[in-house]
Amino acid sequence: MLTVTNVSKTYSGKVAYRALEDVSFDVAKGEYVGIMGPSGSGKTTLLNIISTIDAPTSGQVLLDGKSPHQLKEQELSTFRSSNLGFVFQDFQLLDTLTVAENIVLPLTLAGETSISGMQEKVKSIAEKLHLNDLLDKRTYELSGGQFQRTAIGRALIHKPKLVLADEPTGNLDSKATGDVMELLHKMNKEEGTTLLMVTHDAVVASYCDRILFIKDGKLFNEIYKGDNRESFYQNIVQVLSLLGGDNRDLSSVRLP
Ligand SMILES: Nc1ncnc2c1ncn2[C@@H]1O[C@H](COP(=O)(O)OP(=O)(O)O)[C@@H](O)[C@H]1O
Ligand SMILES: [Mg+2]
Repeated sequence: MLTVTNVSKTYSGKVAYRALEDVSFDVAKGEYVGIMGPSGSGKTTLLNIISTIDAPTSGQVLLDGKSPHQLKEQELSTFRSSNLGFVFQDFQLLDTLTVAENIVLPLTLAGETSISGMQEKVKSIAEKLHLNDLLDKRTYELSGGQFQRTAIGRALIHKPKLVLADEPTGNLDSKATGDVMELLHKMNKEEGTTLLMVTHDAVVASYCDRILFIKDGKLFNEIYKGDNRESFYQNIVQVLSLLGGDNRDLSSVRLP
């Protein structure tokens, strides 16, 4: 469903900087793909290009055969709101709105008018996210994990084809990280949502079907889970140590 072909990105400035170089890969429908690499290796740049927030300097991105970067402003925003869901580390929610109102926002913005239809959708997603009892709360009353689950609810309520997540558990404690991971995993398995997630956490990454490793803006390696998460995790740790950079030594961490 997603095809990235020879994507390069050079940031111009006083000194031009090549953040991505000739990156190519495919993601199949329903796949859960992780992206890992040292800080500054180009992960966020790649996600921004796929999410159409930024344009590649050269190369092409196709989503279901269409190139979002060639759309006009208006078409692009429709394309985004109907096809993509975003979960970022410094996720934003509107603190004047309740949890339910935040979750429903993408539908309101997309022009949906059936109140009962929207209520139904909020209820269904809140159940999956264990947010039922929190729907009337304001966002400043939430814990970090609840806040992030609300942000995920908002990213998923319109059932996007592709969810892009940039270190979605980066600010969370281990309990909340576990909840968020379980949820993304469930969405992927039960709804068939295609997921592309940047993470620096090998445990989080071990839930993916496949990991793409990026180093210095280039694809460095790619590994598949197969049917054993424990050995997948060990392989991830091994590639991370080959990659070097700022990754902590995780070889002694045990899988939950
Ligand atoms: N808007 C920008 N202008 C210039 N350089 C940038 C910009 N955004 C990122 N970079 C540079 O591109 C490289 C890759 O950044 P980024 O994609 O954020 O890496 P990562 O997410 O892997 O940490 C870094 O060296 C960063 O400093
Ligand atoms: Mg980043």
